[in-house]
Amino acid sequence: MAWITKNTAHEPIERRDEPFLTDAMKTKLEADVLPRFPTKRAALLPTLHEIQHTYGWIPPQALDEAATFLDIAPAEVLDTATFYEEYYLKPKGRHLIQICQSIACELCGHENLLDKCIEKLGIEHGETTEDGRYTLVALECLGACGGAPAVLLNETLYECVTWEHLEAEIDALK
Ligand code: FES
Repeated sequence: MAWITKNTAHEPIERRDEPFLTDAMKTKLEADVLPRFPTKRAALLPTLHEIQHTYGWIPPQALDEAATFLDIAPAEVLDTATFYEEYYLKPKGRHLIQICQSIACELCGHENLLDKCIEKLGIEHGETTEDGRYTLVALECLGACGGAPAVLLNETLYECVTWEHLEAEIDALK
C-alpha cells in the first residue's frame, strides 16, 4: 500500500479583481482581534470566521488573502480551514440545518431526524439542495447534550427536537 498525494500546489484558483478580505475587514481585525492574540498567526481562526460570516463561505482566494494578512503560509491556512468542519470551503445553502450526531444525540434519536431530513430535502448530509436553499450537515457535539437530540438551524439552537417540530421550523425558513 502506498500513500498517493494530490499535487495541488500548482492548481490555479479562481480569482476576482476585488479582494474578499477588504481593507475595511482588515482594519476591523487589526483593531478588534489582533490585539487579543500574542502573534498574528494566532488570529487565524477569527480571521477565517470573519470571512465566512461576511460571505457565507471561504473562497480559495480568501484563504490566500488571509495568509498574506497574517504573514503565514497559504498551506497553513488551508490545513486549518480543512481541519474544522465548521468552515465552509464551498458555497452553502441560504439555510444551514445542522444535526448533532454525537453520543447523547445518537442515543436520543438523531438518526431519525437525519433520515427524515434526507428524505424531505432529497440530499445527503454534506450536500446542498439544487435551489441553493438548504445545506444539511451532521456534525459533532453542539454542547447541548442535556437537550439531546440537538439541532442548529442557522444560528438558532433547538433542543429535545422531534421531527414534527424540526419539519415545521424548516418549512418556516424563507
Ligand atoms: S451529543 Fe449532541 S449536543 Fe452533545
